[in-house]
Amino acid sequence: MVVSFLDLPNNFSIAIVDNFYSETELKEIKDELKLLSAVAELKVFVNKAAEDEENNSKQKSNSFFLDDFYNNKRELSKVLNANRKLFSEELRTKLVEKNLFYDHIFNVNRDTTLLNFYKPTDYYKPHKDNSCFTALTFFTLEEFYGGDLVFPEYNIKVNAVENRMVIFPGFVLHGSEDVTKGIRVSMAQFLNYRAGN
Ligand SMILES: [Fe+2]
Repeated sequence: MVVSFLDLPNNFSIAIVDNFYSETELKEIKDELKLLSAVAELKVFVNKAAEDEENNSKQKSNSFFLDDFYNNKRELSKVLNANRKLFSEELRTKLVEKNLFYDHIFNVNRDTTLLNFYKPTDYYKPHKDNSCFTALTFFTLEEFYGGDLVFPEYNIKVNAVENRMVIFPGFVLHGSEDVTKGIRVSMAQFLNYRAGN
């Protein structure tokens, strides 16, 4: 796991974690993603994405929440178990050393996992998430081109490299450029506080 930061002009940053998962974890995750890509094609579970002013979806992709698919039974999914690694002490130490605000990630009491399968001509126009933080991790099922992650307010572009996780506050405008070839998979973990029980 190699953590680096893109500094923003307001004393905050976007965190980039390369080689986040071990080879064994990555293989397990991708084996399940292959099966889930077929599920995505069936469109039984469909994510309602952010919309523009004319109520058109800003996202073109096959996307669904893994929590819905597994009926919130995390134990059934290798992916939903592997992605607990986001809350590891190793990562916490590195992020909090940079900025204490990252400690929100380790204090939230609700996280959900959205899978996005982007094929050629698919995209997600710039939008904001309803999250305190979002952690986006990229995987390659079929070698792809395009699909860079963009932060238009800051003129930042991050290549969607397999096993790279990008962490940013959900209120920062972000989007995915068009995929031109192959299949780009991203796993979005939305981190939030939930009031009450
Ligand atoms: Fe998003």
